[in-house]
Parts: sequence; structure tokens; C-alpha cells
Amino acid sequence: MTSSSAQNNDDVLFFLAANPYICNSYGTATNPCRSHWRCVMADTLTILDNRTGKKYDLPITYGTIRALDLRQIKVNDDDFGLMTYDPAFMNTALCKSKITFIDGDKGILRYRGYPIEQLAEKSSFLETSYLLLYGELPTKSQHEEWVRNITLHTMIHENIKKLMDGFHYNAHPMGMLISTVGSLSTFYTDAKDIQSPESRMKQTYRLIAKMPTLAAFAYRHSVGRPYVYPDNNLSYTANFMSMLWKMTELQYQANPVLARALDVLFILHADHEQNCSTNAMRGIGSAHVDPYSAIAGAAAALYGPLHGGANEEVLHMLDAIGAKENVPAFVKDVKEGKGRLMGFGHRVYKNYDPRARVIKRLADEVFEVTGRNPRLEIALELERIALEDEYFIKRKLYPNVDFHSGLIYQALGFPIEMFPVLFSIPRTVGWIAQWEEMLNDPEQKIARPRQIYLGSDQRDYVPISKR
Ligand SMILES: CC(C)(COP(=O)(O)OP(=O)(O)OC[C@H]1O[C@@H](n2cnc3c(N)ncnc32)[C@H](O)[C@@H]1OP(=O)(O)O)[C@@H](O)C(=O)NCCC(=O)NCCS
Repeated sequence: MTSSSAQNNDDVLFFLAANPYICNSYGTATNPCRSHWRCVMADTLTILDNRTGKKYDLPITYGTIRALDLRQIKVNDDDFGLMTYDPAFMNTALCKSKITFIDGDKGILRYRGYPIEQLAEKSSFLETSYLLLYGELPTKSQHEEWVRNITLHTMIHENIKKLMDGFHYNAHPMGMLISTVGSLSTFYTDAKDIQSPESRMKQTYRLIAKMPTLAAFAYRHSVGRPYVYPDNNLSYTANFMSMLWKMTELQYQANPVLARALDVLFILHADHEQNCSTNAMRGIGSAHVDPYSAIAGAAAALYGPLHGGANEEVLHMLDAIGAKENVPAFVKDVKEGKGRLMGFGHRVYKNYDPRARVIKRLADEVFEVTGRNPRLEIALELERIALEDEYFIKRKLYPNVDFHSGLIYQALGFPIEMFPVLFSIPRTVGWIAQWEEMLNDPEQKIARPRQIYLGSDQRDYVPISKR
């Protein structure tokens, strides 16, 4: 999916980076452009190693130094060389990417340059998926073909139903989704051929098409209802709703406001650059495993309460608070370190999460159809108090995407256990786009961080009788 012109563009940028002050198009030595993303005025960093008195000039490109450039900084020939220590990747870029842009301080999120607010208002989930994967919005005929290709792959193998049936009656649907999406690798053995763009494209159609089917089947299993097969006459989200909720009627009639709301939620969740699950996708994918196995791993990361499980935690939190008047006491507890305000704070956003703004508006439209979620009052009061409180202001803790999304999901009729499942469906697109980008990036290799070993030095084995 990466074009050769994109590669050439990169080459030019790197040439510029290696040759300071020739960036005539975007800046000059006396008047360097530092705002245009393409401007790669090469700067350098001079490091003085106080251990040896030696000086090193390291190039700075795109506001980064290369970690491997530090390796030359040694005390003696036996020294391994300097490394960086960055637990949780707080300040390490692991790739160059053209997919999603986030400015956490300003609260900006763009897919391929398009603001998330515009996509949420004007695009559809499948069109946005095309954009994320191919880099451009589709033409009318490209869009039709894309939608047709996804629609043709919505069915799943009958044996997956048997696999589903093997789960306990109260199995968490996210556990079922992780297992069944991983199992797809056993049905589509051609997926191993990750070097073939055609094979990758086919798995992409399959994954985007089948995730809603797996998700809906997991839900139907958990409520003891027969599985509903996909209806390819319906839109992506209306079909998903049909597979979830169709009973005996001939065709499920999705409420158009609710189907659109779900579509918008899918747009908002489609990608978020190098988050925990995407990092898992890239990390697992870097070993060149098939995409189904990699997505099972990425989805497992998403299941965690600090990531995709947060909106589930928000509702548990709202239930635990119980009533609006209990909010101040709850906030006091949070400030004293007795737990976290779920749905608040973000590793990257130190401002209002732009997705949270869209979701808040969306909630009004949904509640108009479904009636207000009784927890909304507590949530709004919590948000009001937290946004005025010094503790949260000082730490730049704002509502994130999960704060309101759970309330909408619940109003749409989803049980709490389905929330991470609903996140996984659209995020599959982001995972695949990032995986594609990684596989096409000649600089990427199998992901393998270093460590600082602080354990015992060599010691001899002691037989158990002598310990
Ligand atoms: C998202 C999250 C994991 C980011 O964590 P992070 O970038 O590592 O931030 P830190 O854990 O370093 O927190 C920085 C400070 O803010 C506080 N803080 C962060 N999130 C908080 C929250 N939700 N409630 C209360 N305090 C919070 C921390 O206690 C810490 O305070 P300190 O400096 O006094 O120790 C974190 O904000 C969180 O746990 N939020 C709740 C879960 C959630 O909504 N996740 C969904 C993300 S989309």
C-alpha cells in the first residue's frame, strides 16, 4: 500500500536531513522553517561524555536523535556503548508514520491529515477505513468496490460457531473475540504469506468484514440466542446491529440515528497512532506472524482496563458512586490516591480529547432516541467538578474518549462486557494500517528492546538438598 513515490519522498527528506541548511523549499539557515512537517532542517546535538572528555555530534532529524547513534559513545573498546532507558516508551518514537497525527497539548487528532471532527461529521466508517489503509479518500468507484469487497467477506466458517459453542455460558465476549479472531489463522492458511500484497489485502477484507460477525456471535452466545447470519443488504453498522438483535422478523430495521451513531463511534476509534494495542500489533507483526495472530495479541492488549477496558471501568465507577451528591466525596478519595477517576487522563492528550467532544454531542442525539442514561447526571457532575479542581487541572487530566462512550453504548443496548469488543471492531482497521506500514518500512526489523540487567552476577548451582 505504500507507493514508490512515498519512498522517494522519504529519501529526499533524509538527504536533506543529512545535509544541513539546504532546505530552500521550506526554510533557510537564517530563517529555518520549524513548523512545516516536511521541513527537515538538520540540527545537531553535541554530547560531551564527562567520563572520557570526548565530544560527539549527533544529527537531529524530525526532532529526534537515533538511539543507535549513542552506541558510539563508549568508555573503552569493550564497552557496549550508551543506550537510552525508557520504560513504557514515554519518549521514544518507534517508527515514522503517515497515518495518524496527534497533538496532545492542543487536542488535535487527524487521520491522514483530515481532522477527526470532519470525518465524524461527513465520512462513514468504511470510507474512513479506506482512507486509513490507502492514505487517500476513495473515489466513488473505489468506494463502491471497497464496500463490495468488505461485504462479500462477512460470513464466517461454520466451525467457528462450534468453537463459540465450546465457551462457558458466561464467557466474557472479549475473551471469545480474542480467541476466535486468532483461530481465523487456522482457516485462512494463505494469511501466512505476509510478503504478498494480494494476500495481505485479502486478509484485510476478511478481518474488517468478519470482526462484527465474530463480535455479534460472541454476544449471542453470551445471551443464549441463536446466531444471526450477516445480511449483506444492510450497511456495515446496520448489519452488525441485525446480527446482535434480530429476533424473528424477516429483516432487522436498525434505527438510522443509532446506526449512524455507531458508525461515528467506529470512526472515532479506528486509529490512535502508537497506543498500547497498536504497539502490540507492530511488535507481534514484526516477527512476521500472520495478521490474525497479531490481531489476537493486539486485541488482548486492548482488553486491559488502562486501555480499551476503561469505558467499562467508567460505568463500574459511576455505579459505585451511585448518586450525584456522592461525587464530591468520590473526587476527594481520588485526590487522596484511593483509586483513579476512570475516563480521565491520557498518556498523550494533555487537553480535552477531541474524540470526547464529538462523543458528547453524539450522546445527546442518541439519548433523544433512547432516553437518558440515568448515570449521565453523575457523569456530568463528575466532569464539572473535576474540570474545576486544582488536582486535575495541574496534572492536565481531561475526559478521554472512554468517559462518555460507555454511556452511549449502554443506551444503544450493549451490555458492559461488549464495550472492549466494540472498540476492537474499528481499531482492527488501525491495527492493519499500522501493520502494513511497518511491513513496508525498510527500517523496521523484529522488535527487540534492550534491558538494564541488575540481577545476580554469575553463581554456581546449588543442589536442592543443600539449599
Ligand atoms: C490513561 C492513563 C493510564 C495515562 O497514564 P500516564 O500517562 O502514565 O499518567 P500517570 O499515571 O503518570 O499520571 C500522572 C499523574 O496524574 C495522576 N492521574 C493520572 N490519571 C488519573 C486519573 N484518571 N485519576 C486520578 N489521577 C490520575 C497520577 O496519579 C499522577 O499523579 P502524581 O503525579 O501525583 O503521581 C491514566 O491517566 C489513567 O489511568 N486513566 C484512567 C484510565 C483511563 O481512562 N484510560 C483510558 C485511556 S484512553
